[in-house]
Amino acid sequence: MKTLILGGTGLLGSSLVPKLLARGHEVSVLSRNPAALSKLETQGVKGILGDLLEPEGFISSLTPHDVVVSIAMPLEFGRMSRKRFELIHERTTKFTYSALDIGRKLECPIIFTLGTSYRTGPGEVADETWPIERFGITKVGIEAERLIHEAGADGQPIIQMIPGQIYGPGGMFLEMYNRLKSGRFGIVGKGDNHVPRIHVEDCAEAFALVIDKMPANESFIVADDTPCTVREFTEFMASCAGMSKPRTIPKILARIVLGKLLLETMEMDCIVSNDKVKQVLGLELKYPSYREGLPAAIKAIES
Ligand SMILES: NC(=O)c1ccc[n+]([C@@H]2O[C@H](COP(=O)([O-])OP(=O)(O)OC[C@H]3O[C@@H](n4cnc5c(N)ncnc54)[C@H](OP(=O)(O)O)[C@@H]3O)[C@@H](O)[C@H]2O)c1
Repeated sequence: MKTLILGGTGLLGSSLVPKLLARGHEVSVLSRNPAALSKLETQGVKGILGDLLEPEGFISSLTPHDVVVSIAMPLEFGRMSRKRFELIHERTTKFTYSALDIGRKLECPIIFTLGTSYRTGPGEVADETWPIERFGITKVGIEAERLIHEAGADGQPIIQMIPGQIYGPGGMFLEMYNRLKSGRFGIVGKGDNHVPRIHVEDCAEAFALVIDKMPANESFIVADDTPCTVREFTEFMASCAGMSKPRTIPKILARIVLGKLLLETMEMDCIVSNDKVKQVLGLELKYPSYREGLPAAIKAIES
């Protein structure tokens, strides 16, 4: 398989690329970062310098591929003002237009990546039949989701991967971990809401399996076996980092520091089912819960 990864230098990409190379795929990575591409090229990856916000700079030079994997993300850690929200919304939409254009030009399927944005009530478990609910910052994906849906209805082959929070040595999780260690991250309010999680290696394995099997027009929630609350996860993360307890941040202060939109998303209570990714793709989790996954992720960060 010739696989083109948009966003292959980030947290998920850094686990996915070596997995695909080990399976014998030919891998191309699009990135804005020449140094990251040079490093990947030493591992046998074909680097493509380009920006998804300016696809006209690279799209005409793309060679044929069998699949496009869209794992680029315009989101960064920090306060979400209304102005920043508008910018990220615009970029998320542009990324989706670009990925769809690339898929059309290469006449190949696209794997898109969304997030487990569902609000479950007591006793409820969300699965792939649930519509994604957009609230808080997850509203940045409204237009993108509409475009993906329309392209699928027009016959463009699309697969949707829906991971929970991905943790591992990089990306937003690394930022969160560094802030926790320096006392700049804590638990908002009671922290008794659930957020689905997945270790980056297990998430990358799910993507590798979906690339191998290519079940067109399907969607897969990618999460571990163990629902856990924000407090359970963050306290265990702090203990793995050798800290006593993370601090608790009053909601009123969090709203000022993070902004209303981010706070609304952080308060999401969501429990999901991973039955489909296990049954259809055959995913076997190396880290069925954060209890095994977090020590491994933190060891990788600290080494
Ligand atoms: N992390 C999570 O908890 C989580 C949860 C659910 C879903 N997801 C989704 O999973 C995917 C992977 O997330 P991640 O955590 O691996 O992200 P990440 O570590 O933040 O990586 C972001 C990637 O996006 C690329 N990128 C950003 N702006 C770009 C642009 N203008 N043009 C081209 N590439 C650009 C970056 O490449 P360069 O900087 O090298 O250009 C980088 O490779 C994303 O689609 C994300 O929305 C993530």
